[in-house]
Amino acid sequence: MKKEDINKLLEEMTIQEKIGQLTQLSGEFFQTDNQEITGPIYSENKVNEEEVYTLGSVLGVYGVENIYKIQSDYLKKSRMKIPLLFMADVIHGARTIFPIPLGLATSFNPNLVQKTAEIAAKEATAAGLHVTFAPMVDLSRDPRWGRVMEGTGEDTFLNASFAASFVKGFQGNFDNEHLAACVKHFAAYGAVEAGREYNVVDLPENKLRELYLPAYKSAIDAGVALVMTSFNTINGVPATGNKWLLKKILRDEWSFEGVVITDYGALTEQVIWGTAKNSEEAAQKALLATVDIEMMTTAYLQTLKYLVKTDKKMLVLLDEAVRRVLELKNRLGLFEDPYRGALLEREKTQVFTEENKQVAYDAAVESIVLLKNDKGSLPLTKKDKVSFLGPLLDSTDLLGSWSWKGDVTDTESVLSELVEEECSPIDVADKLVIFVGEQSSQTGESKSYTNISLEQETVDLVCRYAGGEQEIILVVFAGRPLDLSAVSDKVDSILYAYFPGTMGARAIVDLLYGKQNPSAKLTMSLPRNVGQIPIYYNQYMTGRPTLTEDEEYVSRYQDCLKTPLYPFGHGLSYSEFEYFDSFVSTKENKVIVDISVKNISSIDGKTTVLIFMRDLVGSTARPLKELKAFEKIEINAGETRQLHFEIDREQLKFYNFSNDYIFEPGKFEVFISRSSEDIIDSKIIEI
Ligand code: GLC
Repeated sequence: MKKEDINKLLEEMTIQEKIGQLTQLSGEFFQTDNQEITGPIYSENKVNEEEVYTLGSVLGVYGVENIYKIQSDYLKKSRMKIPLLFMADVIHGARTIFPIPLGLATSFNPNLVQKTAEIAAKEATAAGLHVTFAPMVDLSRDPRWGRVMEGTGEDTFLNASFAASFVKGFQGNFDNEHLAACVKHFAAYGAVEAGREYNVVDLPENKLRELYLPAYKSAIDAGVALVMTSFNTINGVPATGNKWLLKKILRDEWSFEGVVITDYGALTEQVIWGTAKNSEEAAQKALLATVDIEMMTTAYLQTLKYLVKTDKKMLVLLDEAVRRVLELKNRLGLFEDPYRGALLEREKTQVFTEENKQVAYDAAVESIVLLKNDKGSLPLTKKDKVSFLGPLLDSTDLLGSWSWKGDVTDTESVLSELVEEECSPIDVADKLVIFVGEQSSQTGESKSYTNISLEQETVDLVCRYAGGEQEIILVVFAGRPLDLSAVSDKVDSILYAYFPGTMGARAIVDLLYGKQNPSAKLTMSLPRNVGQIPIYYNQYMTGRPTLTEDEEYVSRYQDCLKTPLYPFGHGLSYSEFEYFDSFVSTKENKVIVDISVKNISSIDGKTTVLIFMRDLVGSTARPLKELKAFEKIEINAGETRQLHFEIDREQLKFYNFSNDYIFEPGKFEVFISRSSEDIIDSKIIEI
């Protein structure tokens, strides 16, 4: 449809029909039971039949038959016949499930992440979906918060890189095999106080802008079509009614012209927060903040008619919001084809295919971190007498808590994948592989925990075998960084598998037996205990840094080391890499880093080199190190690769005390690293 036709459409619509376009309800309001409920059902959501046939979008309905049924009925009975948008949470896979994003991130492989999003979009559009509520790019430094599984970790630069990859993968060129993506949750939901779900977020503006906003901005620069507002407040004002956040930053500073949708019920939650006296004021604040679609509540439906009648400004805002929704529908081609290529045939032939599962396998292999391998207990060999045990050995709960149409009933467990391998009785085995960790139901939305340690019976199980002749290998399933300190020094090797997806079990067995070589590196620090939280690699020097752990009057804990158990960027390989010929220089406004890496082992492998920088003196205290570049390389046994990095001065800017985004010339230390704590070489330069 041409732009002028949208204007014509707008002119023909009644106020009721315009407001309807700004309301999203779930399937049961359209008489279907095949939809996912992802939040409370509000009894006050009463909509009459006339209103239903003005609604603009549907939450959580999936499948060609269901979507055809709703769309065709709607188009028949709706006066304006503006096709419905179908939206849902395809976060890390639709039917073929990839590792949870916190796992995918450890691949340090943006191209792989983009590929997983492409496949997710292909499967989801085959089933009739138009929009996915992803990527979730909320930076978090707090593993008490259950939703860390949905994001890509604690680093701003890395989160921004993956945000763009997810958006490009989901959206592609907006053809019928791609989805409109919705970056969420805007903004800074990962900074909820005390890691407690739906809580306040209080951040100085310079930290909000420097650490938390860049990943959303990166998604917008990558062309993301929608933005979802978050449940939390930002410095006292709920994001959904926060004009400074949505109008000043998102719309005016970042020139975002796409659709803003609230999170589930977040618009009327302003009344519960106590920042709106009633639904009418909540609706008014949201529309003034340029919120377009209200998800799963009906304040717009119930109050905007009156508001636009009494305030012409509100009518202008209403038309602007409806136009953005119509333009999204037009961009998706819905006016020409309300079903957008959804065909039963496609649903049957393009979903859960061997090809898609191969990518899920490759992603799982690159998303499982080898944290420890002290005695070289891994990889296992056919000569080893191995016993496999533990509460999660036979678990098929490998998909994570946002695994859309993933199905645990056709997900293999590790036990079911151990078909050729010899499994020895425990008492004769020389190696024990113990499978432990979380259930996916303990992770994700509304799953904050104050205790992130392994359960006592798991610790007891490990301790029962520790200390003997047998070598112990731990495989951990988790949606968050867990506190492994009760067992980490009692076992010889640790594989951290997160929730590795549809092909996770196969990937784990192949990594255990060396058919695959681990290459993943942590993107979120593993704490020694929950008392250290928030814990992250880009800490600050303080005025009294800890040099040794027994000093008085320095910044440390009396009862715990201040370093994490396993730091950001940590991850081992079966290969052995040597680094040499490192060279750091400056050229015009760039920092140039060169280094050679040789695989001195007999095992082909991949590894990632990380470049951190520290601004030695700034007008505000600067972090000890910040990730500024990374590259993952594949090096066959005996081969050498040269790496070259260029870091532009622009990347060294920060928000100062007055919230100005500035570059301050001076000395910087450049770290060429394996991890945030494992430095290969460093050099101080001036730029
Ligand atoms: C949930 C989540 C959000 C999701 C939405 C729709 O409450 O916070 O991430 O996209 O509702 O399911």
